[in-house]
Amino acid sequence: MSDSILDRLTDKSALLKLLEAQSGGPRARLAPDQMAAKLRERVRGQDHVIDDVSQLLMIEWAKEKRKRPIANLLFLGPTGTGKTELAKAMAEYLYGDEKSLLYLECPSFSGPEAKTHLIGTPVGYVGSGQGGKLTRPVINNPKRVILFDEVEKAYSGVFDLFLPMMGDGRLTEQGSGEVADFTQSVIILTSNAEAQAIGQIQEQVEDYHEMVNAVKSHLASSGVFRPEIIGRIDRVYVFKPLEGIVIAEIAVMKMISAAKEYGLELQHVDPQVIFDAMVAGAKLAKFGIRELDREISAVLGPSFVAAKQQGAKRVRIGQAPNGDLQVELV
Ligand SMILES: Nc1ncnc2c1ncn2[C@@H]1O[C@H](COP(=O)(O)OP(=O)(O)OP(=O)(O)O)[C@@H](O)[C@H]1O
Ligand SMILES: [Mg+2]
Repeated sequence: MSDSILDRLTDKSALLKLLEAQSGGPRARLAPDQMAAKLRERVRGQDHVIDDVSQLLMIEWAKEKRKRPIANLLFLGPTGTGKTELAKAMAEYLYGDEKSLLYLECPSFSGPEAKTHLIGTPVGYVGSGQGGKLTRPVINNPKRVILFDEVEKAYSGVFDLFLPMMGDGRLTEQGSGEVADFTQSVIILTSNAEAQAIGQIQEQVEDYHEMVNAVKSHLASSGVFRPEIIGRIDRVYVFKPLEGIVIAEIAVMKMISAAKEYGLELQHVDPQVIFDAMVAGAKLAKFGIRELDREISAVLGPSFVAAKQQGAKRVRIGQAPNGDLQVELV
């Protein structure tokens, strides 16, 4: 997939005209390096994050020895803006498989038992042979992107584990006594804490670096993270709300992959269709982008089935005179 999905599949200038009234300005251009380009195939509209993280990872990756993780990152920003998607894309790029992502939902580690769940049960207690949900996968395969989602919801004792993990790249598993080595891992924390305040800072401070510093100070002073944790984080990235043209691009990416699931190749999409899809998604504000996902499958699925039954290999998506979506055979 190239940067010009929209150019290939639709009349982009017509779409841009439709967007003019509400768009947030021209899109940033592609950065040269390969990793950034690869990540951008999956994550759109977050070039400020992708460019910086690619550079950081390239530099750390080149080191022959490390005494800590490759990087400790904090992802902030509104829901549905690509935080988890970028973590998956990084896992796929760095380790050749999205499955090297170890995904830990911190709301399920909110009680005092969280620690033993993560690093195993001490010898002499029931379940001591099982290993921890964090340590065991890393002992089995240390080449991982580890994502702690909604980290602020974790039990406070969990943060005690973060210090040796993020600081020395090591954690000893209870029960087995084996050491999980994180020096080949990338650690990502995501947080929705203080989302409103962070959103405001994002709107008010224009310069990105100043904005990130303001966000960091806010996080420190609001007590969400202990200063030792903030001190171990290499980069804080604030994801931007998605702009119209970016949502259009994501909508097209989703239409392409929906068609592919039925063995169909998508050749063209009427810009009005994309525009309408975006408006529908935007109306559903908070879950906009996820809603778009469901809408696309629900609306296009039956038409793709029909197209398939008529023996189609390639299709176009247009609009019927009454405004309904129309899948046309090519
Ligand atoms: N910037 C983006 N580029 C491409 N696709 C995106 C982007 N943002 C969201 N999506 C799409 O929306 C879905 C949800 O995004 P994702 O899971 O990355 O959100 P999130 O930022 O992690 O949100 P949350 O804070 O709710 O966890 C993804 O699977 C992807 O299909
Ligand atoms: Mg997420």
